[in-house]
Amino acid sequence: MQKTSDIIWQDVQHQVLFEILDLLKEPDADRQVLCRLEAYTEYHFTLEEEYMLALDFPGRDAHVESHEFFRKEISQLVRDKQEPDAQFREIIATFLTEWLTRHVFGIDKELEAFILESSAK
Ligand SMILES: [Fe+2]
Ligand SMILES: [Fe+2]
Repeated sequence: MQKTSDIIWQDVQHQVLFEILDLLKEPDADRQVLCRLEAYTEYHFTLEEEYMLALDFPGRDAHVESHEFFRKEISQLVRDKQEPDAQFREIIATFLTEWLTRHVFGIDKELEAFILESSAK
């Protein structure tokens, strides 16, 4: 994935998320990959949300709501009793990658600009 942010932690964490999503597309991917995706997503979203709260970011509610959608999608997949087959995983991974791409180049860019302006990076 191309660079997503001028804030190093934000870009690095986005790159890791895209890497995990790529792993999910591998034929031998298993539930472990989904669990890793869930844990790392939580780690990344929580950190962004801590910045929003600390800096009193005006777009906080909409941004958290967007995170909640992604959290819910992943947690549903993790809780699902049935192990997803390769074809289903591919569909999931593609959908989540598209969602995340829109998120990091959309709403995350507003947060990035706000953090850079506040010089709290
Ligand atoms: Fe992000
Ligand atoms: Fe975000």
